[in-house]
Amino acid sequence: MQRGGSMPVARRKARLVCVMVMLNICIFILMGVTWKLVKSGPQKVRIPSKRFWRRQIRSESFWNKEQQRLDVIYNPIFNPALSGESLIMHPDWLNDTGPLNLCDSDYRVLTQISDYNSLPQRFQDFLLHMRCRTYPMLINQPHVCNEKPFLLLAVKSLIPHFDRRQAIRETWGRAGVLANRTVVTVFLLGNTLPVDHFPDLLGMLDHEAKLHNDVLQWDYRDSFFNLTLKEVLFLEWFSKHCPQARYVLKGDDDVFVNTLRVVDLLEGLSDREAKDLFIGDVISNAGPHRDRNLKYYIPVSVFVGQYPPYAGGGGYLLSGDLVTRLYNASQQVVLFPIDDVYTGMCLRKLGLAPTKHTGFKTFDIVKKYRSSPCIYRSLLLVHSRTPQEILEIWPWIVRPELGCQ
Ligand SMILES: *[C@@H]1O[C@H](CO)[C@@H](O)[C@H](O)[C@H]1NC(C)=O
Ligand SMILES: *[C@@H]1O[C@H](CO)[C@@H](O)[C@H](O)[C@H]1NC(C)=O
Ligand SMILES: *[C@@H]1O[C@H](CO)[C@@H](O)[C@H](O)[C@H]1NC(C)=O
Ligand SMILES: *[C@@H]1O[C@H](CO)[C@@H](O)[C@H](O)[C@H]1NC(C)=O
Repeated sequence: MQRGGSMPVARRKARLVCVMVMLNICIFILMGVTWKLVKSGPQKVRIPSKRFWRRQIRSESFWNKEQQRLDVIYNPIFNPALSGESLIMHPDWLNDTGPLNLCDSDYRVLTQISDYNSLPQRFQDFLLHMRCRTYPMLINQPHVCNEKPFLLLAVKSLIPHFDRRQAIRETWGRAGVLANRTVVTVFLLGNTLPVDHFPDLLGMLDHEAKLHNDVLQWDYRDSFFNLTLKEVLFLEWFSKHCPQARYVLKGDDDVFVNTLRVVDLLEGLSDREAKDLFIGDVISNAGPHRDRNLKYYIPVSVFVGQYPPYAGGGGYLLSGDLVTRLYNASQQVVLFPIDDVYTGMCLRKLGLAPTKHTGFKTFDIVKKYRSSPCIYRSLLLVHSRTPQEILEIWPWIVRPELGCQ
């Protein structure tokens, strides 16, 4: 038998309840006092004085610097044009705007970025034209969304990838009615510059565009760092020519998409879930790579800070409503050379973050399952697949006689 110390269980419980109640009362009183203090304090919002601004330091990194400017311009408290009156003195770097025509080369970068001359060529090209977002369309399909699409498939491609586009048309990107829903496909293309020495494929592209009515082409140099341009030009095109589409899947031309499963997933969504839908293979807590030899290298003189959560650019799914809001937000976000990070930045501007969905396999699936037909039934998107693989996999999805469980 234990000695006297052991209290009957009931009494111990009563004591515990007593302590909890006291604690709650304490918290309640504390909160009340704080609330009173807050309420009786100065009612006005404190607006920083001019001196405060003087001490406000402009970032050393060029992207951050440019973003600071946009933040001031689009903040209604700071901008007299938006708020009706100027409440605060502008910081004096606000007028340091570079060329008036945003599409002229911005030679400020030569002096404002200390190591500009030693940066890799792609950065020099990007920075010099970072502020230009208007490029003429060479091939448009203004009526492609006339019959309201349930799902628009927007596929990033390059001019020479004829076989990839054709494989997609014959399989997961076949436009028309799928599972009783209207699906429309467009391919997003830029152009080539003479300096890059590409053979001239424009005649063939023209022919392809007339044959299939699914090619969108803009007149800018289609390079890795200009994928962000491809993104904002698509957002603009969508807002103008296809805002009625209910959902959009944006992906690369080397992914396999289980369109049936995508439509199935979308049909199950409530209106509330649908409105802010943005799902994909989400990467969180990432930041810029500082190793010069990496594809995703970003120099300190260009950008400092963490990346917001973003969905890998191989493919993600979002609502049409959100696409138009992203277009709006993108005007307040300086172009960043990595397109999927940029989209994450625009989402954050809207106060949103992408949602991770395990059906998006942008880093592929384990090797031993890659040719198991039934695996693909449950997936939404896999990266990467060749045109031949895409043609092999698609029948596994649509033919019911395989008998997958
Ligand atoms: C911006 O304007 C202020 C005063 O109007 C001036 O002192 C400053 O030198 C200007 N800055 C630039 C970079 O032009
Ligand atoms: C097909 O969809 C339309 C509306 O989108 C609906 O009215 C119709 O009932 C559907 N048909 C079938 C067979 O589900
Ligand atoms: C992006 O395209 C524009 C227009 O063709 C070009 O001037 C610029 O150099 C390109 N940027 C990169 C990084 O290729
Ligand atoms: C776009 O943004 C502006 C402010 O920059 C806002 O006034 C407008 O309502 C927004 N439009 C949409 C469709 O969200």
